Amino acid sequence: MTVQPIRLFGDPVLRTPAEPVVDFDAELRKLVADLTDTMREQNGAGLAAPQLGVGLRVFTFDVDGVQGHLVNPVLDFPDEEEQDGQEGCLSIPGLYFDTKRRLNVIAKGFSEYGDPVQIVGTGLMARCLQHETDHLDGVLFIDRLDPEARKEAMRAIRQADWYDESNPPVIKVSPHGPLTGRRSSPAGRLTAADRSADPFGLGR
Ligand code: NI
Repeated sequence: MTVQPIRLFGDPVLRTPAEPVVDFDAELRKLVADLTDTMREQNGAGLAAPQLGVGLRVFTFDVDGVQGHLVNPVLDFPDEEEQDGQEGCLSIPGLYFDTKRRLNVIAKGFSEYGDPVQIVGTGLMARCLQHETDHLDGVLFIDRLDPEARKEAMRAIRQADWYDESNPPVIKVSPHGPLTGRRSSPAGRLTAADRSADPFGLGR
């Protein structure tokens, strides 16, 4: 069993930009397997490596029977069309909010073996590809809400039974080495000052 615990909102790893994959090795394939197994166990539409505490640019997806993964993804938007619809996140369990996204997306990246991959997504698949790529930049879907809805989301998160502001989780050193993200605190833990200052960059 390679199902791993999912990091929840408040864990600094979710706010740390992930690093590009350089080595397409057995360790990467183990990561893709862990992401796939954990995503399936949680019935998720997608899962990004930072959600398992790993700061690498990798995610898996499972949308309308189309399953796969993408390494070092880059998104292209072929048009200006947008969509609006409910979105959620395994790191923000139980909460769903209408989130604007682009309707069509072309995601380019690599397979776990380093082969070039291109995924053309529309609707839900396009939403998933944007949501998961955001995770790799330390961005969460609530960041995409308008200010009013974001405040409502933050209120709901603070009231969620899984949220523990007094005990923010610690970054554990992953098997892929320490995170070197540009926005992480060196201690890997939110300090009291960070918390009072606006730990999530969302405003209060
Ligand atoms: Ni998510």
